[in-house]
Amino acid sequence: MSESKQVISAERVAEYGEVLTAEREVEAMLDLVSAEAARIDSRFLEPACGNGNFLTAILRRKLETVARLYKVKPSEYQEQSLFALACVYGIDILPDNAQAARDRLTEQMRDKYKTLYKTEPAEAYLKAARYILSKNIVCGDALNGVEKISFIQWSLIDGNFKREEYKFGHLTASCADLPLFGFADGDPEKPVYQAKSVKTYPLISVLKIGECDD
Ligand SMILES: C[S@@+](CC[C@H](N)C(=O)[O-])C[C@H]1O[C@@H](n2cnc3c(N)ncnc32)[C@H](O)[C@@H]1O
Repeated sequence: MSESKQVISAERVAEYGEVLTAEREVEAMLDLVSAEAARIDSRFLEPACGNGNFLTAILRRKLETVARLYKVKPSEYQEQSLFALACVYGIDILPDNAQAARDRLTEQMRDKYKTLYKTEPAEAYLKAARYILSKNIVCGDALNGVEKISFIQWSLIDGNFKREEYKFGHLTASCADLPLFGFADGDPEKPVYQAKSVKTYPLISVLKIGECDD
């Protein structure tokens, strides 16, 4: 599928509302949140991600920050770039779109590494990226299937990933009554966002994450 094509077929537009966003509009929208998009640890979820036009643009901005801060030390670049990837999430109802988004993000990780270091990244790095994407880019119904969707919140601690699993349904339920600035009854002492994780995993070295089978 061509990334620049905005419409794949009339049937997909009619059935799934699939009109992909052009690069110029993607970049203009991300410019509105440019500081967040450039931060390595800001988390973005696109609940109708298509083949990844927004997710790849967000990752590109994050990787520019990682390169600027960590390029001199390839091991740190690897950890931080995998963490940046782990902060990007997507859902799409069409399996080919979810897979295309995963593939594009994997290639982007590889290409950026090759551009910086003039060599292919180690297989463990790509395997880690694929594992993260298998968790973060979900094929599902973001409107009527939220109970079936889980996400991992990844945190980076001394070269290790901490993983906490959340039900997407809990997250959306927590946000259902969220007023504009995120406080119940206008009271800043009462935050309403209180989803609880359903599972936590043992710490694991970032570059070993691709070896997991759970
Ligand atoms: C307008 S396109 C936007 C795609 C992408 N966000 C972009 O801007 O390029 C809408 C996308 O939502 C997906 N979609 C439609 N209904 C959905 C649902 N209930 N849950 C998740 N994805 C859905 C479609 O498959 C399509 O890829």
